[in-house]
Amino acid sequence: MNILVLGGGGREHTFCWKIAQSPLCNNLYAAPGNAGTSSVAKNLPLQVTDFEGIKKAVIEHQIDMLVVGPEDPLVLGIHDFFAADEQLANLMVIGPKKAAAELEGSKEFAKKFMQSNNIPTAKYQSFEAHQLEEGHAFLEKMSPPYVLKADGLAAGKGVLILSDLEEAKEELRKMLVDQKFGQASQKVVIEEFLSGIELSCFVLTDGENHVTFPMAKDYKRIGEGDTGLNTGGMGAISPVPFVTPEFEEKIRTRIVEPTINGFQKDGLPFQGFVFIGLIKVGEDPYVIEYNVRMGDPETEVVLPRIKNDMVRLLKAVGNKTLDQETIEIDERSATTVMAVSGGYPEAYEKGKPITGLDTVENSIVFHAGTTQKEGNVVTSGGRVLAVTSYGEDHKQALAQSYQELEKLSFEGIYYRKDLGFDL
Ligand code: AMP
Ligand code: GLY
Repeated sequence: MNILVLGGGGREHTFCWKIAQSPLCNNLYAAPGNAGTSSVAKNLPLQVTDFEGIKKAVIEHQIDMLVVGPEDPLVLGIHDFFAADEQLANLMVIGPKKAAAELEGSKEFAKKFMQSNNIPTAKYQSFEAHQLEEGHAFLEKMSPPYVLKADGLAAGKGVLILSDLEEAKEELRKMLVDQKFGQASQKVVIEEFLSGIELSCFVLTDGENHVTFPMAKDYKRIGEGDTGLNTGGMGAISPVPFVTPEFEEKIRTRIVEPTINGFQKDGLPFQGFVFIGLIKVGEDPYVIEYNVRMGDPETEVVLPRIKNDMVRLLKAVGNKTLDQETIEIDERSATTVMAVSGGYPEAYEKGKPITGLDTVENSIVFHAGTTQKEGNVVTSGGRVLAVTSYGEDHKQALAQSYQELEKLSFEGIYYRKDLGFDL
């Protein structure tokens, strides 16, 4: 098969690394890719939402399968775009159609889906600009902290958690009336605050059948001890030590199965990865959010623990034969530590030469924000390199990643040295 992976981060480098190991893969492409993907795939200079450009590349390179990394093209309907094209209707697209991608594209849609399928989640109500008064009254009845969520995609910034009632009311006004997050906050979901520890569950589905991938936990804050601004993710570990067999069983019966059954019941065309953001409240799992793609940096620890041929699994998604596949998991722990540009997640500089890449021996370095420039690998984003290691447990794996990270350098390099501190 000829396969095109859409995206250019650590997640996509990991997909390329895994797909390239399959004898079923003939030619592998990444668009736009990065300096890491170029070692296993051919990079194509295309934006992930340039559907016409991607279509040209699919024809030119006789692509059989398109693996969509990020959410934007899915929410914009890339799967529907190809399905509606007579010439290309046979292209296997890994990622849901637009109607199902709304699970990530609209918080309110996801909430309604959970409510109608009896999936445990925080209680909520949603409001539009003309309902500001009702929104304020609703907040007055709640107890702090207050959770306000822009309904639409807001690049991971659309959730506010506030302890002060007056501040919450003012922020609600800014979101609805001043369009603080643009179109995305035309509608706002206000929900009950859930207190607990978060984890992520990943399911691959063909729409009817599914396989569950290993769970993972990511570290979102920039600072040690989970302090400071939110980032795309500073590292991840898998498995998650506090997930006991009993807790996993609750996730399976209360959340994963009702979700997949819900796709069929509600007629949501989902062929791809479901990323279920969970929170453990007491001994019970609740859904914080759905994403319609793999997580980043969770992919960098989840795929290295899958022993199956990834192309075979993805083909089974396209052919709706996932019931014939069994997932095989590496029992070892995998951890990844993200090295980021100085200043990230606020302003940072790019174009810094990276040294030491060819000296890393006992970890896998997945590239996130890197590019080739005059024969050198240089930084091109906030999150730069994800250093993944295996170990008997997460502590051993993390120690390995930290040891290898000492060999890597670029001006301004920063990474958290305390991952796993909370476990
Ligand atoms: P989301 O984009 O919905 O995943 O929200 C971003 C982050 O806000 C989550 O990862 C949680 O840490 C936090 N969060 C969202 N909803 C809640 C909630 N109902 N209770 C507590 N924390 C929440
Ligand atoms: N690591 C969180 C995400 O991919 O959204």
